[in-house]
Amino acid sequence: MPGSLLTDTESFIETAITVARESGQLLKEIFGRKREVYFKGEIDLVTDADLRAEELIVKTIHARYPEHTIVSEEKRSRTGLSPYKWIIDPLDGTTNYAHGFPWFCVSIALAIHDEPVLGTVYHPLLNQLFWARKGAGAYLNEEPICVSATSKLRYSLLATGFPYNIHTEPEPAVSRFKKFLTHSRGIRRAGSAALDLCYVACGCFDGFWEANLKPWDTAAGALMVQEAGGLVTDFQDRPFAPAMPEILASNGHIHGQMVAVFQEERAG
Ligand code: IPD
Ligand code: CA
Ligand code: CA
Repeated sequence: MPGSLLTDTESFIETAITVARESGQLLKEIFGRKREVYFKGEIDLVTDADLRAEELIVKTIHARYPEHTIVSEEKRSRTGLSPYKWIIDPLDGTTNYAHGFPWFCVSIALAIHDEPVLGTVYHPLLNQLFWARKGAGAYLNEEPICVSATSKLRYSLLATGFPYNIHTEPEPAVSRFKKFLTHSRGIRRAGSAALDLCYVACGCFDGFWEANLKPWDTAAGALMVQEAGGLVTDFQDRPFAPAMPEILASNGHIHGQMVAVFQEERAG
């Protein structure tokens, strides 16, 4: 049971919050300066800021918990047999960052036996620190947060994102997007999955979906939604785990209506 391994909860959450703030501050300082941009794929970028933030986070966590496994997007990972696994996206919203669009964050989660038990997501430009602990609620800075009360998909504001292979494989992402456009009040595509999830958790968005995501995009944000009273599944309403590429997160009230839209889309 992961809970029994959470003997050092205060130290873990303190580490996650401190390092999220420090790396966020670093991203903020570099933001706006001329940056080195490298291509991982045709449109998938990495900047020098991703790498510097990752180095800071990985070094700090490794120094404090040398036996823990660390999985981080840009691959400065340390693997081992420990049941404790830190799952890190040092910069979620890299495309925004590289273009000077002020919407990005740091995302850090700790999983025990692959079950996320705490998460922090930090938006440095707005000084918004989202954090959650399994069974203990979700917070934005000092304040507890909860999902929205919207009960009709028709009146909901949704968020989504598109995978990096959208140029070569636009379907089914485009047809899902079209369906939700006609069933909701509106859709935002802001470019950071971790922030999209946190904005579901604090009630700005009523729902979020995306395919082809990685554990570092979703591990912290999904816990945030669950701890804020929302629901997280895949597109077929099966319970979500960070290793799953599809995520559907909502306030719970509109979840069934969103699942029905996926069914409608699959049926053509
Ligand atoms: C991306 C962002 C984006 C989502 C992409 C992710 P990155 O992460 O979360 O919103 O649509 O699928 O890969 O590359 O900025 O860390
Ligand atoms: Ca990401
Ligand atoms: Ca990233």
